[in-house]
Amino acid sequence: TLLIIDFGSQVTQLIARRLRELSVYCEIHPYQSVTMEKIRELAPKAIIFSGGPDSVTRTGSPRAPQEVYDYGVPILGICYGQQVMMEQLGGLVVGGKISGGGGTAEFGRAFVQREGQLDLLDGWFSDGREQVWMSHGDHVSRLAPGFEVYGVSPNAPYAITGDSERHFYAVQFHPEVHHTPNGAKLFENFVRLAGFSRDWTMGAYREQMIETIREQVGDKKVICGLSGGVDSSVAAALIHEAIDDQLTCVFVDHGLLRKNEALEVVAMFRDHMNLHVIHADEADLFLGELDGVSDPETKRKIIGRLFIDVFQRYADEVEGADFLAQGTLYPDVIESVSFSGGPSVTIKSHHNVGGLPEKMGLKLVEPLRELFKDEVRALGRELGLPASFIGRHPFPGPGLAIRCPGEITREKLEILREADAVYIDQIRKHGLYDEIWQAFVAILPVRTVGVMGDGRTYDYACALRAVTSVDGMTADYYPFSHDFLGETATRIINEVPGINRVTYDITSKPPGTIEWE
Ligand code: XMP
Repeated sequence: TLLIIDFGSQVTQLIARRLRELSVYCEIHPYQSVTMEKIRELAPKAIIFSGGPDSVTRTGSPRAPQEVYDYGVPILGICYGQQVMMEQLGGLVVGGKISGGGGTAEFGRAFVQREGQLDLLDGWFSDGREQVWMSHGDHVSRLAPGFEVYGVSPNAPYAITGDSERHFYAVQFHPEVHHTPNGAKLFENFVRLAGFSRDWTMGAYREQMIETIREQVGDKKVICGLSGGVDSSVAAALIHEAIDDQLTCVFVDHGLLRKNEALEVVAMFRDHMNLHVIHADEADLFLGELDGVSDPETKRKIIGRLFIDVFQRYADEVEGADFLAQGTLYPDVIESVSFSGGPSVTIKSHHNVGGLPEKMGLKLVEPLRELFKDEVRALGRELGLPASFIGRHPFPGPGLAIRCPGEITREKLEILREADAVYIDQIRKHGLYDEIWQAFVAILPVRTVGVMGDGRTYDYACALRAVTSVDGMTADYYPFSHDFLGETATRIINEVPGINRVTYDITSKPPGTIEWE
């Protein structure tokens, strides 16, 4: 085990992620729970101290158990973790602007300049300096005995410090984040120095999660809302493997799904994977309540409310369920933490079942809470979900409702489904599906005049959307060739009655959003 002591950084999970990428097993424990007794029980081969929001100059701020420095394993301190190490080992930390010391805060990109040789830095400093990501107010101003400085940045005289004898390393920047481009190398060196064999796999993670789920659930029952998306599907498959028929899935079909989607999802889970799935066909209810509604937020709220009602109604039929399973991912955890009470405005009311568990008196099972999207996909492959299913583009909870600006009618939905199927077929045929984060058609609330054969048409216009993105937070439009766009427009107009004009949406996000509503 590699133990990560969490001092409350926003990005602690990224440390764990970097270690999983190196096939090293790690556990994150909050600093409050890490006593020396706990450390002995976990028997880690190495320890990492995360960053954190506090200031070590404040009385009562978090520390590691003092005896940990005599435990005899390599330790890497990051940011706040560096300062904790320095302070506990006899160095000095001074406050920056934030804690009132008037010093040198540093946020964002910085360059660290090499000073001497350190085993942790093998393969670093190809041209004498490295880009790193800083985020600190306080900084170390005097090293603890035994430490030397190996890297400096303009505002951190002790950007990289170490005591290579004891294998103690302390860095001011964040090697775990994307903006420290070679940060992974430091972790690689660290785990090599600590003697890890690097044989941890997604298969091992699966086994471990199965054990955890069994322990948590015991002989109780679990219900799970299947959306057809990758996250809830992987969560359901994993839980099913752990507790078999103690799991019941409810697939809420709101009539706003893509062509054949409901049948495919239900068939896959029921027939292929043997899960107990209730197909709640509630299209009439949803479309009835959405009738005549055109305001985007009102639509989203109606769908969100009905979803919860319907889910609850079906779940109530599952006798004795104590747990609700959710495919919450780590980025969702972060967003909900940093957004609650935050200053950000609501762009869109996201459709989720956040309030459900309390309302229904259920406990949560969230086996994907520590994972990032691509890790969930890897776990899904490990669980034997078909590759085509795992690679599917994200699909929003409110479904086609938000791809049909203005009033929703069954006729428009039908046209939209057909056009979308042709578009996706085109993308697959041209081998572009996996290059694109998300692609779909929106049917526009306008009719335009056209001429087909010798006749006049007066039909709907649609917009094609395709974006690249890494996390859905920002996105750029996909640069299709004109040939591709021309061929696709022709196919849609020829094959889909009801559409006589096709446009391509070239808005990035921001300022646009990916969906139209
Ligand atoms: P936007 O449109 O906000 O979308 O740029 C970003 C990503 O989120 C998806 N999306 C949703 N997903 N419930 C979801 O589960 C929602 O209410 C929702 N709205 C948007 C969208 O498809 C894109 O991947």
